[in-house]
Amino acid sequence: MKQNAKLNIVLMGPPGAGKGTQSELLVKEYGILHISTGDMFREAIAEKTPVGLKAASYTNAGLLVPDDVVIALVKERLSKPDCAQGYLLDGFPRTIPQAEALRELTKEIGRPVQAVICLKAEPSILIERIVSRRVCPTCGASYNLLSKKPKVEGICDNCGGKLVQRKDDTRESFATRLDAYQKSTAPLIDFYKKQGILGEVDGLQDIDAVFGDIRKILERS
Ligand code: AP5
Ligand code: MG
Repeated sequence: MKQNAKLNIVLMGPPGAGKGTQSELLVKEYGILHISTGDMFREAIAEKTPVGLKAASYTNAGLLVPDDVVIALVKERLSKPDCAQGYLLDGFPRTIPQAEALRELTKEIGRPVQAVICLKAEPSILIERIVSRRVCPTCGASYNLLSKKPKVEGICDNCGGKLVQRKDDTRESFATRLDAYQKSTAPLIDFYKKQGILGEVDGLQDIDAVFGDIRKILERS
């Protein structure tokens, strides 16, 4: 796939696999729109919108938000004209009903998913990434005390905001999120394999190596 081609892709993987990190690089490289349902819920919760009020108890505990709520949110987002630049869905779909809804939705807008990238990683590494992640609530930048430290402790390099921990970045919530991934999301691997659009990448490599592997898959798509 050429660098300026319009890409329509899905990025999946367990909590902490690097979906957000790789999304940032993909957006820079391909100029596509980043649609993260997790980010959308966090914004909605901060703004106390009706969707935020419905989602908060689920996201804080690490449980999946009900399909109808997520599907309605994505449907509305994908219907906006800026999706014409290509989209990158980060963290959606996460269940078979969501994947089926996405197939219909993307058919309606004439922009089918071309590739699904699944980041693979060991839970024992993921938990350490999750508990050492820090995020900037002001600009959304993400850091890691082990692998991506801010220049000044506790302060965002981009905007000077005070870094915080996500509410669901606890060991307890991680276990629930991982369980939800294994039970509800992992079946999507076969779902997309059967469609011939799945690419699997070792998410335990360093960030640039993971990105290199994703690019190779996209260039073949
Ligand atoms: P969401 O925000 O999507 O959370 P998640 O899937 O648990 O994934 P994370 O964002 O924690 O991890 P990531 O894969 O993005 O990793 P990152 O790049 O940040 O969803 C949150 C919640 O919203 C869900 O639990 C659910 O309640 C709800 N929700 C969202 N979508 C939904 C849906 N479709 N259906 C139902 N409910 C939904 O990396 C993690 C850390 O590791 C960072 O600190 C990073 O710097 C570091 N790191 C990344 N890559 C590497 C590397 N290669 N080497 C070393 N460190 C690395
Ligand atoms: Mg993320």
